[in-house]
Amino acid sequence: MQQSELDFIQSLRQSSHYIEQHRGKTCVIYLPGDLLQNDEELLSLSKDITLLHSLGLKLVLAMGATLQIDQALEQKQLSWQQHEQCRITSLEMLPTFQQTIGYVRSKLEAVFCHASNQQHKPLSLVSGNWVIAQPKGVVNGVDFQHTGQLRKINKEAIKSCLNSNQIVLLTPLAYSLTGEVFNLNTLEQACTIAEQLQADKLMIFQKPQRFDYLPAALNQTQISTLLPSLDEQTQQLLQRIQKIGDSVSRVHLINRDDPSSLLLELFTRDGTGCMIFSDRYHQIRPASIDDVGGILEVIAPLEQKGVLVKRSRERLELEIENFIVIERDQRIIGCAALYANYANSGELACLAVHSDYRGQELGEQLLQEIEKTANQNGLQQLFLLTTHTHHWFIEHGFSLATPNELPQEKQELYNYQRNSKVLIKALKK
Ligand SMILES: CC(C)(COP(=O)(O)OP(=O)(O)OC[C@H]1O[C@@H](n2cnc3c(N)ncnc32)[C@H](O)[C@@H]1OP(=O)(O)O)[C@@H](O)C(=O)NCCC(=O)NCCS
Repeated sequence: MQQSELDFIQSLRQSSHYIEQHRGKTCVIYLPGDLLQNDEELLSLSKDITLLHSLGLKLVLAMGATLQIDQALEQKQLSWQQHEQCRITSLEMLPTFQQTIGYVRSKLEAVFCHASNQQHKPLSLVSGNWVIAQPKGVVNGVDFQHTGQLRKINKEAIKSCLNSNQIVLLTPLAYSLTGEVFNLNTLEQACTIAEQLQADKLMIFQKPQRFDYLPAALNQTQISTLLPSLDEQTQQLLQRIQKIGDSVSRVHLINRDDPSSLLLELFTRDGTGCMIFSDRYHQIRPASIDDVGGILEVIAPLEQKGVLVKRSRERLELEIENFIVIERDQRIIGCAALYANYANSGELACLAVHSDYRGQELGEQLLQEIEKTANQNGLQQLFLLTTHTHHWFIEHGFSLATPNELPQEKQELYNYQRNSKVLIKALKK
């Protein structure tokens, strides 16, 4: 078999459980106008979105058109004003908005026809007057005129389209109950729609500078810690996402210069952008016999390097009740064990985090979990033996000790040739 075929099979295997995970899930995708400008990129993006649809995702597209509107207004020599980074939409500009947005929408509809041609079932992209707007109003004395904000949405109509296998398309235009037309900020609209539909995912195409300095995954609490160090626009984006709270399980920031980042983010384990999660993205839990294979994958490379003492599969199976694991997307990425059978001491062993996931404080979380269990078991101290990692443990409250300070049974087993460092930590009451 050729390498390319092996790679293909490997990728298919890796993505298969994501396919299963995403089926039936509601996903809102924010498409900024710049992304829709280049015909070739637009076709490739629409093919990817069509693929997501055929894999069973329920899709809502929130289409932006800022770039196209800027160009149309410039062409007509219509100048515009901004206040608080938001465009003021005058009555005079409104027909240009309607024409331009209509044009972009028709371009999208056409390209989706082309993309769905390759599927065995035709695909419909539908839009409607489901978003009810109200004027943004007069803010600090400035009248935003036909710039509006979302007042409410017709959730039932949108859900019924999604349930009948259609892709929902929202444009920046929305209507008030008095029949007026308003221009909405599409990113804001995408966030609110995702929140109100309680979507499983919100995918936001953004300039890579907006998330280059962010970790691959962060939760709502971490956003607050990071905010002061970020530039104003990234701060605003993250604050907007914070407002969604836990109504949307995962918000993904993906690279708008590379439309294929949509598939990479959804179907590869670590994605390519930044994910903000409100669900428990990874969980720490007691290990079960089914986790033995996953634990072995994490510890085997460390055993080979001599960092951890070798454990056979049989021994691991027998001692599995002592283990806890960290699981992310159904994969074991870390483990630790507590042997609580030494009078008032417990041994911490086999603390390991998969090399791809180090430096995210997962090791610290595992240690905290072990300390919690040790406390619950009434233990007064933890001890461990290590050849390579004593500094890490000292930084986490352990002190160097001598083999003589180990519980008697452990002293008898101490391997003087391996010459491991002994570390002890008194547990808080
Ligand atoms: C030790 C280990 C569990 C830490 O996991 P982790 O999730 O990366 O830990 P954290 O994110 O909480 O801490 C990362 C910090 O520890 C530091 N660190 C990692 N290994 C270290 C070591 N051997 N000595 C000193 N510091 C170390 C990292 O450099 C990083 O420091 P920084 O934040 O200043 O950059 C992980 O490095 C590992 O699996 N090591 C191999 C197995 C091992 O040695 N286990 C202990 C024997 S029981």
